[in-house]
Amino acid sequence: MAVARGEFSSRFGFLMAATGSAVGLGNIWGFPTNAASNGGAAFLIAYLILTFALAYPALMAELIIGRHARANAVTALKSISTGPKSRWLGLTVGFIGMLTVSFILSFYAIVSGWMIAFFFDSIARLLGLESASQWLTLDAVPRNAIFVVVFMVVTVMIVSAGVKDGIERWASRLMPSLVIILVLLTIYVLTLPGAMDGVRAYLVPDFSRIADPQLLVDAMGQAFFSLSLGVGTMLVYGSYISEKENLPFIGTLVALLDVGIAVLAGLLILPAMYVALSNGVEIFDETGAFIAGPGLIVSVLPALFETMGVAGIFVAMAFFILMTIASLTSSISMLEVPVAYAVEQHGIGRHQASLSIAAVITVISLLVVFYFDPLFDLVVTYTTEFSQPMLALFFCVFVAWIWNRNEVLEELKKGCPDAESGLFWKIWPFYVKFICPIAILLVYFQ
Ligand code: PHE
Repeated sequence: MAVARGEFSSRFGFLMAATGSAVGLGNIWGFPTNAASNGGAAFLIAYLILTFALAYPALMAELIIGRHARANAVTALKSISTGPKSRWLGLTVGFIGMLTVSFILSFYAIVSGWMIAFFFDSIARLLGLESASQWLTLDAVPRNAIFVVVFMVVTVMIVSAGVKDGIERWASRLMPSLVIILVLLTIYVLTLPGAMDGVRAYLVPDFSRIADPQLLVDAMGQAFFSLSLGVGTMLVYGSYISEKENLPFIGTLVALLDVGIAVLAGLLILPAMYVALSNGVEIFDETGAFIAGPGLIVSVLPALFETMGVAGIFVAMAFFILMTIASLTSSISMLEVPVAYAVEQHGIGRHQASLSIAAVITVISLLVVFYFDPLFDLVVTYTTEFSQPMLALFFCVFVAWIWNRNEVLEELKKGCPDAESGLFWKIWPFYVKFICPIAILLVYFQ
């Protein structure tokens, strides 16, 4: 059942694709609001430490397994297992990862659909189309269902075009645009009255919070979600990296870019909330906490844009394009996980695999749209807080306890001949073997 495998054509292509996967709603929405609700810079510090101490080693585990096995997550874990028990564990972890990422995509598509709807709303307002604007911004089942389908269709179109002609090509176009829009929007918002209060709320740490168990749990969840870990995404992208590449180096670049964009997004969202406050928009709920959930994106920020007159329409347009791009470069990486499996393991054509798997995920997504109240939170919590860190832990266990250590080193040496004497090899193996699993378990059971 040999199928010609795709490969990223350049380092830049891989970086854009992997950073595109990592940078998503988690960075632009999740990180700033988590920081706002958890003591500002205290959260930022915990997040930075956990990203480099726990998430980066786990990211490396996935990239190394992926490039070595040159296969989807299920086949890859199976191929590095050493006996029937670890084979069984590999299959289980691979399948649960695939299931988890499919459920993540099912809620992600709903939120991304809102972003597209709000983008069209800014066009409707520009054209003076009152009733269209009302329909686009009203939270109703038909609107949500239609935009889930729109978002999934675009995702399928990119994934079915293949690794190089779909994923790499689009990520390389979209990611630079994302960075430019983000920087311009941030600069603009920082010039508005009230913005500096937001900068203060973000950057002045409330150190009394730093050892707060809730803060640590949130920061760890954020770090794993943001680097797309545990569900096989980075493993699959790793499997498309050329053997000439130095893995620890490009892994570090991905982590740095991901964190950098999250930190920058904090400088956009929190100041924007305080600008909204100074324009008379309510940014705290009845308990005095920040409006951080869906309300932030679909009510606080649109209300802010409305207070800004015509300029607000263009700011809204830029903001929702930004969110849509961020979502899309992540959703394609999610869909790639089950698609790669179906293509490689079952010999199904890429087109057909993308379409049928996306159809199933769309149906799940529509179910969540129809029964939003119990289902949405349930899916988010189960996938991101429960499943993802556990799966990341198993990836570490695989690479450090099951896989042959010499093979790991051989894989690293491919793009980095002196890997054995480098700093990475001195620290990382011990790290993924002991520190990561113990720390993940500790934070997990908090
Ligand atoms: N990293 C993405 C974000 O920050 C989400 C994601 C999770 C993508 C899991 C792929 C896999 O929004």
